Amino acid sequence: PSKHVIFSGIQPTGIPHLGNYLGALSNWVKLQKSAEPDDVLLFSIVGWHALTLSQDPVSLRSARDDMLAVILATGIDPTRSILFHQDHNLHHTELCWILNCLTPMGKLRRMTTWKSRLAASRNANSEDDVDESLLNAGLFTYPVLQAADVLVYRATHVPVGEDQRQHIELIRDLADIFNRTFKNHGKPPVFPLPVYVDTPSKRILSLKDPSSKMSKSSPDTASRILLTDTASQIKSKIRAAVTDSMQGITYDPVSRPGTSNLLTILAACTDNNVTEVAKLYANKGHGHLKSDVADAVEELLKAPRAEFEKIRHEKAFLEDVARKGASQAMQYSGATMDEVRKRIGL
Ligand code: ADP
Ligand code: NA
Repeated sequence: PSKHVIFSGIQPTGIPHLGNYLGALSNWVKLQKSAEPDDVLLFSIVGWHALTLSQDPVSLRSARDDMLAVILATGIDPTRSILFHQDHNLHHTELCWILNCLTPMGKLRRMTTWKSRLAASRNANSEDDVDESLLNAGLFTYPVLQAADVLVYRATHVPVGEDQRQHIELIRDLADIFNRTFKNHGKPPVFPLPVYVDTPSKRILSLKDPSSKMSKSSPDTASRILLTDTASQIKSKIRAAVTDSMQGITYDPVSRPGTSNLLTILAACTDNNVTEVAKLYANKGHGHLKSDVADAVEELLKAPRAEFEKIRHEKAFLEDVARKGASQAMQYSGATMDEVRKRIGL
């Protein structure tokens, strides 16, 4: 079997919550475990993407360090996987510019992430009156930066959330446009067309408003569990989670979103099937379920939390990991860029 080059990224936007962990970070660790020895795994903290929204410089700096420490604490091994800060490797921005110049505007306008930004900035009273001061060009072109993130390593597999599927299609389109525009007879195309890797999707909902997902952007901090929360914080947040007043426990995401969310969390934490877990609680009450959920979350988070506390302030170690990761990443991207520059005449 030919080797896989796997790329995935996460924005440095504070301490991750349980949703980020179950929906993204834990999959990275699983991939690392299941990878073949000659597969290349690249995991990037994508600081440039964070700039599409306004960031406080002091918070951004510490969020970058937090994210690096968290990823290590969850089990990414820097001697196996290449873990690095996107902004340490300028090849991403160089390729991004080249791809920008090959990207039809219409393709970017069709991105649903862009359409929802546009809708959010549209004045309520007029269909086509967009307040452009609320939008920056980075929000429009960041899918091209994502394409560069992936293609600069000639990645073949991109494990990301379902919401990113359309962006992977764009990456394939751009790879294909480049390959066709700059084909060199007798030589293989520069970029493989990367495939979207479906990660077992565990969408975790807000503990306070189970109609929305658990998110760092909610102002209510009781709506999410952070990877650094203590056992007693976990317990009190789960105890206060919004459920319903129905008798017994059933898994019914439509009419019982809060209760079902707790079952989803319990199943994910214990690596079980949610309908099987639900059966065990059929005749029990919410108090019982909540207590078990809190225990399971604590069991899941206690090791990474302790590891995070240990390494978060080991500045020299973290810098060393980041520096080595960037230098390994640049070996791959440097080879790609040599070829890219040659093909386009630079
Ligand atoms: P947030 O919504 O908190 O801002 P991000 O958008 O930065 O989180 O997402 C980072 C990663 O975590 C993405 O891969 C995303 O799919 C995943 N993720 C975020 N929130 C959840 C959630 N509630 N449940 C499952 N996965 C999530
Ligand atoms: Na988000």
